[in-house]
Formats: sequence, structure tokens, C-alpha cells
Amino acid sequence: METIMGFSKLVSLLLIFHLLNPTAVFSSSLSSSKSNGLSEIPKKFLDFAERKEFVDWMVGIRRKIHENPELGYEEFETSKLIRSELDKLGIPYNYPVSVTGVVGFVGTGKPPFVALRADMDALPIQEEVDWEHRSKIPGKMHACGHDAHVSMTLGAAKILKEHVEELKGTVVLVFQPAEEGGGGAKKMLDEGVLDNVDAIFGLHVTHENTIGTVASKPGPLLAGSGFFTAVITGRGGHAALPQHSTDPILAASNVIVSLQHLVSREADPLDSQVVTVAKFQGGSAFNVIPDSVTIGGTFRAFSKASLIQLKQRIEEVIKGQAAVQRCNATVDFHDKPVPTFPPTVNDNDLHEHFLNVAGDMLGNDKVKDMKPLMGSEDFAFYQEAIPGYFYFLGMQDENSPKLGSVHTPHFTINEDVLPYGAALHASLATTHLLKAEPKPRSTEGNLHDEL
Ligand SMILES: *[C@@H]1O[C@H](CO)[C@@H](O)[C@H](O)[C@H]1NC(C)=O
Ligand SMILES: [Zn+2]
Ligand SMILES: [Zn+2]
Repeated sequence: METIMGFSKLVSLLLIFHLLNPTAVFSSSLSSSKSNGLSEIPKKFLDFAERKEFVDWMVGIRRKIHENPELGYEEFETSKLIRSELDKLGIPYNYPVSVTGVVGFVGTGKPPFVALRADMDALPIQEEVDWEHRSKIPGKMHACGHDAHVSMTLGAAKILKEHVEELKGTVVLVFQPAEEGGGGAKKMLDEGVLDNVDAIFGLHVTHENTIGTVASKPGPLLAGSGFFTAVITGRGGHAALPQHSTDPILAASNVIVSLQHLVSREADPLDSQVVTVAKFQGGSAFNVIPDSVTIGGTFRAFSKASLIQLKQRIEEVIKGQAAVQRCNATVDFHDKPVPTFPPTVNDNDLHEHFLNVAGDMLGNDKVKDMKPLMGSEDFAFYQEAIPGYFYFLGMQDENSPKLGSVHTPHFTINEDVLPYGAALHASLATTHLLKAEPKPRSTEGNLHDEL
């Protein structure tokens, strides 16, 4: 997952993201697929992906990527490995898309189109897990599982290719750069990778849920997020003679207190929002009032309207409250070239599709409902353009020690997750195409739709 703004600042943003908290099992899993043969596909694909040589192949890819982590827009070797696997599978692709991105095509080459997305980038973290395939690049690590996401999406590509006669349309494989703050999804979208595509699916591994389970929800799933930096300028001087200075430390302190009233007093209590000031830099001596203070932080919400409102009020409050203390302020929202991340909002129809497919593969009791999270995902950019669905794939083995958390040096993948992700990706796409296939026209049908 996530974050926006320059990589240099990423380190300070680690750990914003806490994964799921599954609560109840979906009670309403439908069985509309049971009647038409679609229900056998998920189980068949999982059996296919769980064969030893298939798993070994995916594990090998994942470990190779894990050893050579690359940051956003620098995924050259990862991209090369993906292309070489697609070549071996005989799957055509476009490259480069958005610097390092690869877009493959499996199926008839004709509509309908459905997309699967994998993110490729690593994080600026020094791996502290001691194992054979640890990161060979100092200060860089696949600490968000994107190595597994690539491996599972290549797994899906292989499943799809080997069942290509069952594809009634084309699956678009979207390997994107720079999910971790670089807005790679936005860049891919702007290059037209989803033109004519009906739906897109994305997944994320999580240590918070049990292996063999999945979790998601319809509607808002992850928050939209933006960042701000403000420079509050006064006039420095001797700390014992405040009457000759304009103190930016006090002004910034009042700004921070006032910012906390945006959520507590202006937002709807039922519309979850966050404003956090996570950075405060100013002054360096006991007896000197500094000229300026820099503060920075993040704001999050589950609707675009709330994000826009927060952004406007953050600027007004910083400038207005600084002025009360006779200081000036400038505010930068770091929204160029990557705009503020929108919320990740799951399409309702795709949610039903997901319940059917995941239920058929794993059993309905393995498909969990989840609460929304304040973390964010650049997958949200795709969902602004077309219906999309994002879900979490559990990795935790109940009998093993707790896996390390995402965005920490201790993050670990349970590689048993790989066949699940590959088979889910392939099944969601294949059955979506079968459902999207134009229905044979009935003879007494309405002829108006021919016009
Ligand atoms: C704030 O800006 C105004 C207008 O540019 C300027 O006159 C004033 O001196 C500034 N105040 C401080 C504390 O920098
Ligand atoms: Zn991630
Ligand atoms: Zn992440």
C-alpha cells in the first residue's frame, strides 16, 4: 500500500497502515454462479496453482524479486524479469508503460476486457529478517509484499494461458510501478491502459488474516490521503526579549491545536477523517526565538468531497491562525505531479462477483467482511476511471509465530499464499469475462437495442 509524496519523505511515513480487522463472515454469499458451470472454475484453478512445480516456480520468482528490491520508477530488473516470464509463456505485452510498467494480454485479443493489477515497487527500509533470500540491496526491501503480488499475477498469467480456450475475451495484466507514494497507478491510467476495460481487480497480502481466507467490503475500503507542509514565518530574536520578536514556535503550536478542531468540530462524526501533524521543526537553541517553523502532516477521508473540504480548511486554518500570532504561512500540499490519493471504493456488483468466486474457491466461511482502514492505495485511481475491486489475502498460519507487519524491517511473507492469489486473480478475471459475454438474443427480444 500507499503513501504519496517524495521518496525522501517516505521513511517518515512508515507504519501509517494497519491492516485488517476481520469481524464477521459475510452472511449473504450468493450462489448465482452455481447454475451455469462457473462455480467449478475457482476450485479447478486453485488445484492447478497448488501443484508442486507451479508453486516452486512462483516461489522462485518471488524470492528473486525479494533479493533485488527496487524503489518506485526504478523497477528495471523486476520489469525485465516479468517480461522474460511473459515471453516464456508466449504472452504479448506493451513496454515500457510509465517508465517500467508492463501490460500483458491473454485471451482472444478482443473485448470484453478485464484487468488484473500488480504493483512492483519496494520500500526504503533495511531488511532485518535473517533468511536465505533476504534483500541484497542495502536500505531497500520488499516490506509491503509487492514481490508476492508480482509473482501471483505471473501465476495468474500462467493459469490463464494454459486455459486460454476458456477465455471469452481478454485479460489485461497491469504491472505498475511506484505504488508507494509515486502514484504509478495514475500514470498508467493516464497512458490509457484501462481504455475499453470493464473492470479491474487488485489484491494485497496481509498478516492480519489467516492463510486461506480473504477479506474486503463493498463501497469505501481505504481512505483517500493527502499531505501538507507549512512554513510559518515570524521574526527571530533573543528569547528573553519576546517583545522584539514574532514567535513562530507559539504560532505553529496554536496552528496545530486549531487543526485538531477540523475533525472534532467540523467533520460529520459518522464520516471518519484524520488530520495528523507528524512533523514539527523549528529552533535550535534554548535562548533564541527562531525565524520560522516547518510543520507537516497528513489528512485522510473516505470521500473526495471530505478530502477537498479538509484541504481547503487546513490551508485557511494554518494561514489564519498564524496571522493571529502576527506570523505568515505558506502551505504546500505536494499534489504535483501525483494528486491527492482518492479513497479506494469497491464496486457493489464486483463485490457480489468476488463473494461468489472466493466462496466457490475457499468456502463461504473463508470470505470475511472487514471494516474500512485509514491506509490508502493508489489502486483508487483505477477505481475513479472504471469499476474496480480490491481485497486482502490472509497469510498468517494459525500455528506459526505472528508474521512481521507491513512497512517494517521484519515483514515476512508466508509463501503458501502464492497459489491462492494466482488462482483468485485468474478466476475473478475468467468468470467476469464469461459473465460479460453478450447473451444470445432471444427471438421475441426487444429489437430496439439493435439500433
Ligand atoms: C508577512 O507578510 C507581510 C506582507 O508580505 C509582511 O509585510 C510582513 O512583514 C510579514 N510578516 C512576517 C512576520 O514575516
Ligand atoms: Zn502495498
Ligand atoms: Zn506499502
